[in-house]
Amino acid sequence: MRLQDKVAIVTGSGSGLGKAIVKRLAEEGASVVVADINAEAVATVVGELEKAGRTAVGFTVDVRDRSQLKELMATTAGKFGRIDILVNNAGVTRHRPFLTMNDEDWNIVLAVDLKGVFFCVQAVAEYMIKQRYGKIVNISSASGNGGASHATAGSAAGNANYAAAKAGVIQLTKTLATELGPHGINVNSVAPGFILTPMTSTSRTQQEVEEHIEVRKKSTVLKRVGKPEDIANSVLFLVSDEASFISGQLLRVDGGRTDRM
Ligand SMILES: NC(=O)c1ccc[n+]([C@@H]2O[C@H](COP(=O)([O-])OP(=O)(O)OC[C@H]3O[C@@H](n4cnc5c(N)ncnc54)[C@H](O)[C@@H]3O)[C@@H](O)[C@H]2O)c1
Repeated sequence: MRLQDKVAIVTGSGSGLGKAIVKRLAEEGASVVVADINAEAVATVVGELEKAGRTAVGFTVDVRDRSQLKELMATTAGKFGRIDILVNNAGVTRHRPFLTMNDEDWNIVLAVDLKGVFFCVQAVAEYMIKQRYGKIVNISSASGNGGASHATAGSAAGNANYAAAKAGVIQLTKTLATELGPHGINVNSVAPGFILTPMTSTSRTQQEVEEHIEVRKKSTVLKRVGKPEDIANSVLFLVSDEASFISGQLLRVDGGRTDRM
């Protein structure tokens, strides 16, 4: 067990990649907190983890709300005595052609996908600093790292808001690694390529999903799209002590995307 006695919080773990990540960390012995805005999804994932014999608690939280995050951290530390791992995974998309993208589309994506990371790390930092130990992984995207625009792959919609937020996550990770490193905290980011999850299928019609899968298969050297477990395994490595000399890095888990600009 690689995470025995560790305590991990995964935001957005009611669905998709977050759910796969929280399950993987729990399998390796971590006590986990399923933190998501969707209360029903939180209860479902906690139930599944408990059924599998894992230690899990749920917390309904909006990563845009500092006071809720403060409570999340205090409750976790109160229950388990420490917080070793934070995975900032919660995210939303509002894909739309740039010329018709409105303030609401822009603001919500920046608020959840970028500012939410800033808020979560500020909320957890005092606990990790006190312990002189912490592992933080921020989920970015191939879209924030030069992957071809959403509009090129089976959809007319653009993703200027999402690409900007996810690029911000990469640079935020580097600055956090610099400022928190002296306190014994590793901060890294993972940029997933295309992985079929509720996020990728609800923003497209079924036909667009199928077209998108074909485009993405062709634009990876491994000729396949990713599985949530591919991302979960990369996060597991980065939060484990096997990665203790790695900080400020971006790990691209994208099948070898050939369309990076
Ligand atoms: N699926 C992909 O291909 C892909 C590729 C690159 C990056 N990503 C990133 O991976 C992460 C997970 O994506 P996914 O595909 O699993 O999406 P998903 O929609 O399946 O899951 C996202 C989760 O975040 C939660 N969430 C949304 N807003 C929240 C908020 N304000 N506070 C707390 N929780 C909130 C949702 O309830 C949901 O459970 C996101 O950051 C996404 O941008 C996904």
